[in-house]
Amino acid sequence: MTGATGNVGGEVVRALADAGQPVRALVRAPADLPVEQAIGDLNEPDTLDRAFDGISGVFLLPGYRDMTGLLARMRGAGVERVVLLSSLATVATDTRNAISEFMIRSETAVRESGLAWTFLRPNAFMSNALRWLPQLRAGDVVRDAFGDVPIASVDPFDIAAVAVRALLDPGHEERVHELSGPERLRPAERLAVLADVLHRDLRFRALTDEEARADMTGHVPDEYMRAFFSFYSDGTLDESRIYDTVEKVTGNPPRTFAQWAQAHADDFR
Ligand SMILES: NC(=O)c1ccc[n+]([C@@H]2O[C@H](COP(=O)([O-])OP(=O)(O)OC[C@H]3O[C@@H](n4cnc5c(N)ncnc54)[C@H](OP(=O)(O)O)[C@@H]3O)[C@@H](O)[C@H]2O)c1
Repeated sequence: MTGATGNVGGEVVRALADAGQPVRALVRAPADLPVEQAIGDLNEPDTLDRAFDGISGVFLLPGYRDMTGLLARMRGAGVERVVLLSSLATVATDTRNAISEFMIRSETAVRESGLAWTFLRPNAFMSNALRWLPQLRAGDVVRDAFGDVPIASVDPFDIAAVAVRALLDPGHEERVHELSGPERLRPAERLAVLADVLHRDLRFRALTDEEARADMTGHVPDEYMRAFFSFYSDGTLDESRIYDTVEKVTGNPPRTFAQWAQAHADDFR
């Protein structure tokens, strides 16, 4: 398990632990997790030997420094399959931007690794709403970019549920799972749901592209900022499509944004 302290990896760890599966989490520092841990850094392959020892399947996050070397190390340690958390950015209409490039680079390395693979290509995560936390602590107005873009965002819980099936069941090899939630919402609509759940009177204010650029400057790397504008302002990435993959693979319908917000309400208090 990589990314075990993160939004998606955390859900994968919980699901595997609940299913009684033996799991080892690769963490950069000891963490509060219900499973065995190995300390290592995916950008520092020499730290990883113990992490992969005796492991048959890896849930892998994308974008580390030497994905090809990392995968060769896994194969050498006896790993058989990889479930890669990728993104629909790999198939955006303009794949030359920095985010598409690192996702494509990661998928290519996995495809060429000789390991059995499954790619998860989710829409944007519902958990991205946690980025509103500082504004929600400061007041009742949330300002955000790309206010007119509808996204069928997906709950990390559902991404994890699909990942677990792909790790444990046969039949997911060389398959790409495109993942969405059940509804497409604009940011103001997501905020309205959150307001309902938190019993707060919250208002959304859409930033103009110029304001959004100024807002991101300094804390979002330039190449990622250009990628976001390419996706959401130029419209090269369509995350409004709804897929039936979660239900097909797990047997359960994907969670709504209201369900995500209920489950994470305490994070906003
Ligand atoms: N957000 C979206 O809408 C979206 C959409 C499609 C795809 N994705 C992809 O999904 C990935 C996971 O998202 P998330 O929200 O679950 O991420 P997250 O909550 O930010 O967690 C990132 C995880 O990666 C670990 N990590 C970071 N650098 C590492 C390194 N060098 N070595 C080992 N572990 C490292 C972190 O561990 P520490 O505790 O050590 O920091 C943490 O567990 C993202 O990286 C992104 O590429 C995101």
